[in-house]
Amino acid sequence: MARTGGPATTPPRTIREERIERIGRRRRSVRHDVNPLREGLRLERVPDPHVMVLFGATGDLSHRKVFPALAQLWRTNLLPQDWQLVAVGRRPHDDATFRAEITASLEQYSRVRLESDVAAQFLGRISYHQGDFGDDEAFDRLAVRLDAMDAELGTQGDRLFYLATQSSAFPQIVAQLGRTGLDHELHGGGWRRIVIEKPFGRDLDSARKLNREVGRVFRESQVYRIDHYLGKETVRNLMVFRFGNGIFEPLWNRRYVDHVQITMAESLGVEERGSFYEETGATRDVVQNHLLQLLTLVAMEPPATFDADALRDEKVKVLRAIPEFGAADVAANVVRGQYGPGWVEAKPVQGYRAETAVDAQSETETFMATRLQIDDWRWSGVPFYLRAGKRLPKRATEIAIQFKGVPHRLFRDSAVDPQPNLLAIRIQPDEGILLRFGSKVPGLGLDIRTVTMDFTYGSAFSVDSPDAYETLLLDAMLGDASLFTRADEVEAAWAIATPIVDSWVNGPAPDFPNYVAGTWGPNAADTLIERDGRHWRRI
Ligand code: BG6
Repeated sequence: MARTGGPATTPPRTIREERIERIGRRRRSVRHDVNPLREGLRLERVPDPHVMVLFGATGDLSHRKVFPALAQLWRTNLLPQDWQLVAVGRRPHDDATFRAEITASLEQYSRVRLESDVAAQFLGRISYHQGDFGDDEAFDRLAVRLDAMDAELGTQGDRLFYLATQSSAFPQIVAQLGRTGLDHELHGGGWRRIVIEKPFGRDLDSARKLNREVGRVFRESQVYRIDHYLGKETVRNLMVFRFGNGIFEPLWNRRYVDHVQITMAESLGVEERGSFYEETGATRDVVQNHLLQLLTLVAMEPPATFDADALRDEKVKVLRAIPEFGAADVAANVVRGQYGPGWVEAKPVQGYRAETAVDAQSETETFMATRLQIDDWRWSGVPFYLRAGKRLPKRATEIAIQFKGVPHRLFRDSAVDPQPNLLAIRIQPDEGILLRFGSKVPGLGLDIRTVTMDFTYGSAFSVDSPDAYETLLLDAMLGDASLFTRADEVEAAWAIATPIVDSWVNGPAPDFPNYVAGTWGPNAADTLIERDGRHWRRI
């Protein structure tokens, strides 16, 4: 949102006009190749000048994801000229040593290599602030420093706080921001927003508690809870696919859809995150958030507008329509697994229990599959099968909408029965959408074979997709919360996941490891769907 006004002595131009001119100057001064095929594909939006404060700036997430995404936004002129970042961390650093660390991370993790002059400009925007999150004095100094930056840069108190720390530090940082008044939006001006990373709680109670703690300091409209799946280009396209086309929506219901499968397969193991994963497991790590988010986007009703709350209202309705499981439902509808040693992508890999920082008798699940029902008018009786796992044969996230077969077998003489139609939405990699249908085999007879129409992003658009973090960071800076989860939404998702993880704590010990690394999970996952006369789609 552009603000107007300014000191009486300034020429009668709006701040927006000045900003546009400054951006134009910078665009002219930044030398990097412009891809003509990119023209017209994305409307560039530039946020107001602001200061971003990144907590957990020395951590893995910041270095792998946040800094590379910011650098890319800077490189493509999507950050305002007057943008600054204060990196807060516990370790002692001066600006120069910290910038050297970011440089190394940018080299390793950037999607597009930064030109050296652009990298220098970007790094010049970053300064380091050392402080322990429990140290009042460090936050007092931070407040003074931010005020001084406002005066110097004309950022008018606009600030984006980003919590990329371990989740245990969230309440403490939020409370400190409240204590120092850093959460206050100034009268008639400056916005304050807070971006909070996942995991947001570890069950329903802790998520509620965290929501209360955040709510004591920030209004809900200031809070941006990240689920990076929502920033993925293919996930955003789900809404365009459903609501920007007329022909799919009439089929998108219990009358035509037999079932839906959502798969998130990873070939990687837990890498260096053993201690985090031991406390988390697949259900908390990716099902409660990423998979349930995909499910809501597939299942929700069309929102009346694309406004953040209209959209999230519809998503919450879907989550609330999924009946909560009791212990018997968990036993009948959920399968958990843990990988043992095996081979993945032609390399031998160790079992989960042998990974660094993992208990040799660990009962943490690295795989989970479930069958969910959505008890509403549109989906009643249509099962949604979800599965997610580490050390599966390949990395692939896909949503498959399996349609019902034809009501009447007209082509009885065909050697092969046509398979029912299927729509597969490939979230990653090899992003695209595939439609399967029956076709006549050329020849004098009347044989039918299943064929596919396949759309791939790579061949349809000559541009690379932005990383999810680029999209989400820019949206938070612009004040668009539609791709962030709301308090009630995160709680509704935990209301589904919590009875599952709780029943495992109280139930009998699992028979782990129960799948060989490099396979599609435990046999019980196949039984879960085969009992219903269906099969997991081969990806
Ligand atoms: C994260 C999980 O949220 O998502 C990781 O904590 C997982 O365990 C990752 O590997 C997968 O993200 P992506 O974008 O690679 O599919």
